[in-house]
Amino acid sequence: MTPEGPHFGQAVRPADPITPEAVHTDYTPKVFGRRILYYDSVDSTNNTLRRAASRGEPEGTVVLANEQTAGRGRLNRTWVSPAGVGIYMSLLLRPQSGGIPLFLYTFLPAVATARALRRVSGLPVFIHWPNDLTLRGRKIAGILTDVRSGPNHPREVIIGIGINVNNMPGDLPPELQEIATSLTIAAGRRYSRASIIQALLEELERGYALMKSGTSMDLVEAWRKLSPSHQGTPVEVVGGRGKNFRGITRGIDHDGALLIEAAHGGVERIAFGEIRRIRGGLQHAPGS
Ligand code: BTN
Repeated sequence: MTPEGPHFGQAVRPADPITPEAVHTDYTPKVFGRRILYYDSVDSTNNTLRRAASRGEPEGTVVLANEQTAGRGRLNRTWVSPAGVGIYMSLLLRPQSGGIPLFLYTFLPAVATARALRRVSGLPVFIHWPNDLTLRGRKIAGILTDVRSGPNHPREVIIGIGINVNNMPGDLPPELQEIATSLTIAAGRRYSRASIIQALLEELERGYALMKSGTSMDLVEAWRKLSPSHQGTPVEVVGGRGKNFRGITRGIDHDGALLIEAAHGGVERIAFGEIRRIRGGLQHAPGS
């Protein structure tokens, strides 16, 4: 051990705290992040926040962890969450009325994360439907939204965000080396996780205000601009409820579902699952 931090193989990690004190330095939260529950290690920040929510924690409460031992991803995957390098954060919303379409609860964090990462790093972070964040074609962040329904509208919404920040290539498991990245891998420098969390909370709060005031079209428009792959991109649909198939993306519908002009004909509406970009395009494009 050194005064700066623990050894990880040959590398020494400088301290990069994400405690409430660190996040609240030079940053005065309004509602989001006013209450931060920080842990050195948890199973999953979403699980931890769900337990805290049932004890009555208010809207805007944030759980942050330096490490997750059972980080959860979409489609029952795990989210690799090594100590000290990534952001593992969950935010609690308690909607007071209906009328906000459910998909906006995933578009909101996608837009906020892309904006926050662009603001802090200047790097071209994009959204890949539904809410993967990519940098130069590799995944840099992911979002898992857990909704607990009430009789008329969601009672609790837990937005979980995982970001690869200061991960070195060796911090990524071999099977992710080709498809994932981090800010440090892309830019060759380290970033303050607290600064990213500050930017993220600001962006989340601004976007949520739009949703609540009924001007969520601005948010959808921002999502569209940050997600060029939702229009005219050759993709393969995998892990959905139907069979895998190939096609060209043709935009999103009013529910946030992705429209795909299938290579086998017709336009399919994809509300669930995952799309993978096909490098080099389709062999037999629709209409050709
Ligand atoms: C994905 O599969 O892309 C979603 C990954 C979401 C990971 C984050 S990390 C913080 C929060 N807690 C979890 O267990 N998962 C989310």
